[in-house]
Amino acid sequence: MNLKHILDQQISQVLSEISGDPTCQAIVNHSKSAQFGDYQANGVMALAKRLRLNPKELAEKVNNKLELSEFAETIDIAGPGFINISISKDFLTKQLNLLDKDQLVKKSNDKQIVVIDYSSPNLAKEMHVGHLRGTIIGDAIARTFEWMGYRLIRQNHFGDWGTQFGMLITYMFEQGGATTKLSNLETFYRAAKKRFDDDADFAAKARENVVKLQSGDEQCLQLWKSFIDISILHCQELYKKLNITLTENDVVPESFYNDKLAGIIETLDKQGLLTESDGARCVFLDEFKNKEGDMLPTIVQKSDGGYLYATTDLAGIEYRCQTLHANRVLYVVDARQGLHFQQVFNVAKLAGLADEKCSLEHLSYGTMMGKDGKPFKTRSGDTIKLIDLIEEGIQRAYTLVESKNPDLSKAEKQRIANVVGISAIKYADLSKNRNSDYIFDWDSMLSFEGNTAPYLLYAFARIRSIFKRAQLDADAEYKICIESPEEKVLALKLLQFTEVVEALLLDCYPNQLCLYLYELAGNFMSFYEACPVLKSEGEVMQSRLGLCQLAALTLNQGLSLLGIETLDKM
Ligand code: ARG
Repeated sequence: MNLKHILDQQISQVLSEISGDPTCQAIVNHSKSAQFGDYQANGVMALAKRLRLNPKELAEKVNNKLELSEFAETIDIAGPGFINISISKDFLTKQLNLLDKDQLVKKSNDKQIVVIDYSSPNLAKEMHVGHLRGTIIGDAIARTFEWMGYRLIRQNHFGDWGTQFGMLITYMFEQGGATTKLSNLETFYRAAKKRFDDDADFAAKARENVVKLQSGDEQCLQLWKSFIDISILHCQELYKKLNITLTENDVVPESFYNDKLAGIIETLDKQGLLTESDGARCVFLDEFKNKEGDMLPTIVQKSDGGYLYATTDLAGIEYRCQTLHANRVLYVVDARQGLHFQQVFNVAKLAGLADEKCSLEHLSYGTMMGKDGKPFKTRSGDTIKLIDLIEEGIQRAYTLVESKNPDLSKAEKQRIANVVGISAIKYADLSKNRNSDYIFDWDSMLSFEGNTAPYLLYAFARIRSIFKRAQLDADAEYKICIESPEEKVLALKLLQFTEVVEALLLDCYPNQLCLYLYELAGNFMSFYEACPVLKSEGEVMQSRLGLCQLAALTLNQGLSLLGIETLDKM
């Protein structure tokens, strides 16, 4: 159950009754400290001001009308108009015993269709670190929607159709069409680029080949296809290594929209939205102006007839809304494309490509920085290949495992290192607010202290070892009864899992889930220190084992939503 939501609703209702205004809203938060109860309701003060009443008196009035005896032990009025609510131990005991251990969170019945566009790298080159954040963050969001029972459709909007492909095809022709040389896409791209820059004839041919490709020339298409297939295979390998859920079935690349682009221009034209500017066709909307006050165009067709990134995105919006029937379309794409998405969203709505009730959302994220505060690069200034980063992470984790646990077999160390290395990279990213730039730092992400993957994996393994040590069944039924303050804090936290997951679906910030798991692990550790489990007896022991069991299940489930595997030992 979502206790915060229930309290929110009940208190809002009382505020509405008293004021006669049905839109009155209470704001319920977790109390910062136990002296303010467990939840604190706010909203009385604003209402008092509006009604010109003494806030304290109004709070008393609200309190008298509130029917919270099912949840609350005490309700206090604090300061000018705060209502502090302490949840009763009986209520917590009852809720935890009722919890469905296979589900943990009640799934949504709402059959909303959510489309999520993430990872979506350009295929001309190999995936590099710039693709890491969107891939990891998008995957956590996708997993959460899916787990919560939504119809979730992944779209990997690969960039497979740009002008670079003319250059790559031309180089492939020169090389006799051999695909064997493609084992290293990066080297291949660089060699082709060098030819393009050095030789005007080559460059002219490359431009010719783009046009040929886009108008369906068989030979060009064939070479292009072999290149794309190999690139996608590379990406799939990386996804597998990173435990990312994207598959070949989710590939709906730019080229998919090729035959829909002329129709998009026609639609815009019919609606009178197009303006010609320097030969290009553009949409100008009042809301997009630069600092000087000049209107900013959304260019949809170049003067040579070619289409643009925005045109494809407009076709994508139409497809996602009209064919896939999405209620929400989420774009996990870096912050620098913010203006682009605002523009195409507004144009799409205006042109009726997306209906009013379809929510188009850009879930943006900041840049990955090195420790020096500059965009993350190799020493020589090149972009870092994703595969190299992953391998380094696993290598570093191996060294760590070896120092902590030298007696394990080599195979076992490797298995643990794979999980720890990948988790550390993913979690470090997920645990930061996605809007900020983020500093990539091996030492802090591999630390066993703080809000890190190793800390959480260790906490989980430690709980599991309690059951193993005592040869107890970790899946048995244990009856919980909340007594001590540490048990209560842990119980409250366990019940908050629903709140956190539901909030994640609303605004898509996985860092909130990370923070929750970190706090849960901390609450567990405090409980475990204060309340002996295996040294206790009878019902008390049963109850504490029950809390251990729920803590492990919740940590495991939360990490799994983030795309992180757990380990029974580390
Ligand atoms: N391929 C683009 C890039 O690498 C990202 C695509 C994001 N999705 C979209 N529908 N525009 O920048």
